[in-house]
Amino acid sequence: MPEALLEITDAERRFGGGRTLFGKSLPAVHAVQGVALDVKKGETMGVVGESGCGKSTLARLIVGLDKPTGGTIRFDGTDLVAEAKADPRKLARKVQYVFQDPVASLNPRKTIRTILEAPLIHLRGFDGQKREERLRELMEAVNLAPEFLDRYPHEFSGGQAQRIGIARALAADPDMIVLDEPVSALDVSVQAQVLNILDRLKDEFGLTYIFISHDLSVVESVSDRVAVMYFGRIVEIGPAKEVFARPRHPYTHLLLNSAPVPGRKSLIPEDTNTELPDPYNPPPGCSFFARCPRGTDVCKTAFPPLDQTDGNENHRAACYHPHGDD
Ligand SMILES: Nc1ncnc2c1ncn2[C@@H]1O[C@H](COP(=O)(O)OP(=O)(O)OP(=O)(O)O)[C@@H](O)[C@H]1O
Ligand code: SF4
Ligand SMILES: [Mg+2]
Repeated sequence: MPEALLEITDAERRFGGGRTLFGKSLPAVHAVQGVALDVKKGETMGVVGESGCGKSTLARLIVGLDKPTGGTIRFDGTDLVAEAKADPRKLARKVQYVFQDPVASLNPRKTIRTILEAPLIHLRGFDGQKREERLRELMEAVNLAPEFLDRYPHEFSGGQAQRIGIARALAADPDMIVLDEPVSALDVSVQAQVLNILDRLKDEFGLTYIFISHDLSVVESVSDRVAVMYFGRIVEIGPAKEVFARPRHPYTHLLLNSAPVPGRKSLIPEDTNTELPDPYNPPPGCSFFARCPRGTDVCKTAFPPLDQTDGNENHRAACYHPHGDD
């Protein structure tokens, strides 16, 4: 068994591109490019970055809902794209997805029982008494009364609906769950309940998480390691404590400096200074150059590789002039 449960090498997802019938080039967007990431069994890997930086695109690649246009993704040693094509149910038993908008992710015309039964029937092959027992266990695992099984999604609050979304992911008995902004739509007090449940389930079911959020304080509290994304690439990666205490990349610095004030949520700011470059016309070299206080001419030549360390190989930044070197 490989050490890493998930191994992503040089992953790319380009949208558009190609040529018209008359040979004219069509514009392309690189939603994800040059992404390399290993996630170990039992780890919580946080992924942060502002809106449009490619977090959900990466998440969809990892669960096989979308295919990379370049690079490879291996899960437990097996090529994920090949497995998604040959045996999508097998892949669904390995990795599951929890969506940002809990209510919209549940079919409004189906009861919770029908929603949770689908993976138990199609992915686990459970029937009769065994399925009924498992339904009750799943509801209990997310602190919901089994009596709620025959209700419809609109009868639940956002936090309850997200717990049902988590129970649906658990029903497949996966090794990994990709959580895409799982608490962003919830009030802070409800966020804490859902985060506590996720923490407990991780131990109980031996899960590995990829936890995506644009809320730095949430990512800091749940992650073992964190990857910071900017404009489709990972620009800094390392142990969460290190990255938050000693950020190397100027973008991570900017995020943390504009972050926490007690009582305020540390969300990535959405003011005009935080706009990403035009995806159809990316700048040459480092994509953070236009916003970077440390940029020099070398930064305009080529995108810096994710290999700048401060002596610790596990903490790397993609920057020609990282913090900590001066
Ligand atoms: N199907 C698509 N067709 C064309 N472009 C797309 C498509 N899906 C995503 N993109 C583009 O890819 C980039 C990354 O989008 P993505 O949804 O992955 O970002 P995100 O980090 O999840 O943002 P958010 O925080 O708002 O959810 C954006 O520029 C987006 O417009
Ligand atoms: S490579 Fe240059 S422009 Fe990019 S983040 Fe580092 S210092 Fe700034
Ligand atoms: Mg998203």
